Amino acid sequence: MFHEPANVSQEATGDPAKNMQDERCGAISNRWSGSAVREFLARLRTPAPQLEAVRTQLLEVPSLISIRAESKGDIDAIHAINKRLFETDTEAKLVDLLRSRDKLIISLVAEDKGKLVGHIAFSRVQNEANPGIRGLGLGPMAVIPERQNCGIGSQLVQAGIGHSKSLGYDYIVVLGHPSYYPRFGFMPARQFDLHCAWEVPEDVFMALEVQANSLSSVKGLVMYEPEFNEV
Ligand SMILES: CC(C)(COP(=O)(O)OP(=O)(O)OC[C@H]1O[C@@H](n2cnc3c(N)ncnc32)[C@H](O)[C@@H]1OP(=O)(O)O)[C@@H](O)C(=O)NCCC(=O)NCCS
Repeated sequence: MFHEPANVSQEATGDPAKNMQDERCGAISNRWSGSAVREFLARLRTPAPQLEAVRTQLLEVPSLISIRAESKGDIDAIHAINKRLFETDTEAKLVDLLRSRDKLIISLVAEDKGKLVGHIAFSRVQNEANPGIRGLGLGPMAVIPERQNCGIGSQLVQAGIGHSKSLGYDYIVVLGHPSYYPRFGFMPARQFDLHCAWEVPEDVFMALEVQANSLSSVKGLVMYEPEFNEV
């Protein structure tokens, strides 16, 4: 359906910002970054409705980045990434606290040539009316600035969704950028009549059914682990 995009991202262009991105992302991973894929698809004149599906396929192509579960040796680097990427050290402390209480259900790292460049965490959430339905909260999540916009965050989210599914969780919620998470299937949680227990703007609280129709009869407040209020 489409050709090998061999030189799409490696050609120097007259756009200094794009050339910098090519350098940051590296030859392989950059081939699948959002802007490189858009450029490639534009050249193919792919019809607009198919863009997102093709982009998703391309982002799933293996790159040099490895996405794997955290190991003991990663703990300091994960702390450093979260401390660096957020305004305070709250997220870094939260991840440590959840881990110390065995509440870090999924913790994945992105590694590039032995260096950690990103991290994503998932912990349990509870729906007050349906405690039997198994939910996870995505977050925090961070990719180091030098490697952002290379598809690493997307790989972390997709891997996390896959792990959630194989662990038998029913749904995932996230408090995050409303223009970022819909690309992975997240929808405003209010569409499921689900609401965050904290007072947050409605559009930043999103939900994804990991198992088909798992949220069809679930509604009400969703509560994160108490550790979120301790840090
Ligand atoms: C959000 C974050 C994890 C994304 O990681 P990433 O590796 O750059 O993500 P990807 O390369 O997979 O995706 C890049 C896309 O995300 C978009 N994006 C990045 N930050 C965004 C934001 N704050 N709001 C909306 N979209 C954002 C980019 O515009 C890009 O879009 P495109 O694919 O249409 O070009 C990263 O920017 C980050 O660590 N930010 C600081 C910490 C943070 O905000 N964490 C998330 C808390 S919800």
